[in-house]
Amino acid sequence: MTVKRVLTCIAMAATLGMGSAAADQPFETEIEARQGQFKLLAFNLGPLVGMARGDIEYDADTAQASADNIAAIASLQQDRLWPAGSDSESVSGTRALPEIWEDTDDVMAKFEDLRQAALAMQEAAGTGLDGVRGQLRTLGGACSSCHDAYRESQ
Ligand code: HEC
Repeated sequence: MTVKRVLTCIAMAATLGMGSAAADQPFETEIEARQGQFKLLAFNLGPLVGMARGDIEYDADTAQASADNIAAIASLQQDRLWPAGSDSESVSGTRALPEIWEDTDDVMAKFEDLRQAALAMQEAAGTGLDGVRGQLRTLGGACSSCHDAYRESQ
């Protein structure tokens, strides 16, 4: 690749990350990005749930890798993903309830609960099936406690 092509690629990638100015509908970029992080959370939670239920065999490496990913995703800086006006009453394509912007402190506290639960799972996941089972309730609880309050039901 020539230097010019590399720079063009970087510029294009940056446009995607710049936010709504580049998108068709308001906050489309931010909404897709925040939904993407939740998809990744669910994707990585999958093997842990499967192992805990006995649907798939416990595997320490897979459990640890899944927990490591969840901890990393749960530590992402959230500020730019939640612009005011990107709620489900103002725009389409999102299930983020307006209440999120009425009590941001509580939402951020729930993100912190998630991060703490993820760190505890990261400690436990590689130690055995009991470790996974022991932490899954808290971790899953952190997901549902926020969904119950701040995500539109389908
Ligand atoms: C602090 C609040 C909060 C926490 C914690 C949270 N979520 Fe969510 N989640 C949301 C909100 C709000 C949405 C809706 C986002 C949107 O549509 O813009 C959502 C959407 C989702 C979606 C749908 C994404 C899509 O494709 O549109 C999935 C899947 C999901 N969350 C999984 C999880 C899992 C798994 C966890 C825990 C490991 C979790 N979430 C923790 C608030 C939270």
